[in-house]
Amino acid sequence: MAPGVTTIATDRAGSWHLGAATEMADGDLHRRHVEGLELLVGYSSGEFFAILDLCPHAYVHIGQGFLHEGRITCPWHGLTFDVHSGECESWPGLEGLSRYPIDVRGGELYLTSKDPLPNAA
Ligand code: FES
Repeated sequence: MAPGVTTIATDRAGSWHLGAATEMADGDLHRRHVEGLELLVGYSSGEFFAILDLCPHAYVHIGQGFLHEGRITCPWHGLTFDVHSGECESWPGLEGLSRYPIDVRGGELYLTSKDPLPNAA
């Protein structure tokens, strides 16, 4: 479950600082607001990720869902999504999660674009 919200308003060198990568434990979700984007940033199954806090099933916040082993389960109807590929695992063909490009530099996590990554084919 994502606790508080951190608003990120400053663009420095074309990226947005999302927090210290070392402070993100496996299974953590952090809310980050970046210039109108409501993101969930986390670490699971050995990888960091940033996704829009929006379930593509009924367009509600998915951030109160349960994250485990790279999958987030929406609290509304229980659909499960892979946070790294964005794909809905419990309803193949459903629109996936919107994912955003991130980078880890010097132990810090950055959003590198406000444009979502293309959906997996
Ligand atoms: S709104 Fe997320 S599964 Fe229905």
